[in-house]
Amino acid sequence: MSQCFSENLLAGKVAFVAGGTRGINLGIAKAFACAGARVAVIGRDAERAAAAQADIEQASGESALGMSCDVRDYAAVETAIKTTTEAFGKIDILVSGAAGNFFSPIVGLSANAFKTVVDIDLIGTFNVFRASFDYLTKPGASLIAITAGQAEHAVPFQAHAAAAKAGVNMLTKTLAVEWGPAGVRANLIVPGGIEGTEGVKYLSSSQDGLDEAIGRVPARRLGTVTEIADTAVFLCSEAASYITGQVIYVDGGTLTGNGAYDCLRPLKR
Ligand code: HXC
Repeated sequence: MSQCFSENLLAGKVAFVAGGTRGINLGIAKAFACAGARVAVIGRDAERAAAAQADIEQASGESALGMSCDVRDYAAVETAIKTTTEAFGKIDILVSGAAGNFFSPIVGLSANAFKTVVDIDLIGTFNVFRASFDYLTKPGASLIAITAGQAEHAVPFQAHAAAAKAGVNMLTKTLAVEWGPAGVRANLIVPGGIEGTEGVKYLSSSQDGLDEAIGRVPARRLGTVTEIADTAVFLCSEAASYITGQVIYVDGGTLTGNGAYDCLRPLKR
């Protein structure tokens, strides 16, 4: 079992992580497991789901669940949530992290391209949150949506993701208000440029591009998956029991805009 600062912080909790089969979300799932939670993850790819399950089990020494499920399919999400409660008894922690993204100018987007990203990010978050309500521990449940800085700061080539994530922000904040009286908290995490992720790969086509991106971050470095995962553990712990409806930027202090992603330039057409 690997070491983690938060050992036992989430002991006895059950966590469901949508999109938790890779990247930042898998890091969050593993951090939850290291902190003592039983963890279920869903992702579209069955092989990746099985590999994530094994990875989480190895990190925590406890059995986990990895299920193939597309967040765009409400019935499939509901089934995955029911399977989790049958296996582990309840859901205390829920992360909506499944996302689809690519860089395209607006004139390069078909109607279906725009809709696809809105379906995955926004409708998917609705599906995961809505389908979980009856199964959440009330009071005490903590929900997190992974969002993006472009929900609040315009970035070229990101109209589809920005529109979807702006919706995710308001959906989550509204949920915090509506479900707060039942004892459910809901917050959003904005990862900055995180090393090893898809988003950073877009910036890494040249070393100059990456250096320029890092130069826009006050911390003068990229973040790590662990730094996002630790924030998620904190938000789902008792230490954050009065924090709800908030957008938490974990981005090295980018107060002037959208940090690493501000250096994206319009393509020559
Ligand atoms: C324009 C594109 C496109 C592109 C796809 N499409 N890629 N349009 N430019 N680069 C269009 C397709 O032509 C199609 O429209 C429509 O989008 C749907 O594409 P499909 O491939 O059929 O959809 P699907 O298989 O569901 O895949 C969804 C996806 C894909 C979003 C397109 O990229 C994906 O599955 N991504 C998941 C992983 C991912 O993107 N992670 C990144 C998260 S990182 P037509 O009209 O032809 O049918 C992140 C942080 C980035 O979000 C931060 C940056 C600031």
